[in-house]
Amino acid sequence: MELLKEKIKKDGIILSENILKVDSFLNHQVDPFLMKEIGFEFAKYFKNKKITKVFTIESSGIAPALMTALELNVPLVILKKQTSQILNNDFYQTKVKSFTKNTEYNLTLSKKYISENDSILIIDDFLANGEASLGAINLVNQANASVSGIGIVIEKSFQPGRQKLDLLRYDVYSLARIKHMSKEKIEFID
Ligand code: G4P
Repeated sequence: MELLKEKIKKDGIILSENILKVDSFLNHQVDPFLMKEIGFEFAKYFKNKKITKVFTIESSGIAPALMTALELNVPLVILKKQTSQILNNDFYQTKVKSFTKNTEYNLTLSKKYISENDSILIIDDFLANGEASLGAINLVNQANASVSGIGIVIEKSFQPGRQKLDLLRYDVYSLARIKHMSKEKIEFID
């Protein structure tokens, strides 16, 4: 998506070879016009998949996921990051480790918001190690529903997440795929 790539080039800050800061339009301040275009692009790509719900993981995935859900005319479900385990039967949970932030949380979904007939589109802001997406997939599988697609705003293709999801044969659509980055420049996969 050209608009997004231009925005990353203009306003993204490369903190290291692994970390791109996008606080000015995605993670802290949010550019609503860009989010609208992102929602439109994901909805266009996944329109024939009979999506019944969009899932995202709090918090930075919410803005692009909401705009996608609006375009597809389906509900958005925000998967919660709980620090503790919930020991009752009303929730699905799975442990997710974040390598970038060196944290661990229990990704949590109320059983009320999924059924086995659901066709889920997972949307997230970054794809790095893929653990967040795999956690979301795990919750959908626990409910015997299906994951019909995964939409990623920024994929760091040099990290293992994309390959993990490809090996499992998910339909992954990333709007900007970063091949390589350094303090001097950022290179995208076309
Ligand atoms: P994964 O998301 O593919 O599982 O990889 P990883 O565990 O390494 O990333 C965990 C967290 O770090 C995620 O945020 C992800 O969005 C964020 N992250 C990964 N790479 C970058 C990057 O280059 N720049 C920025 N700004 N963030 C990155 P999170 O813990 O889910 O938090 P939130 O921001 O959604 O609240």
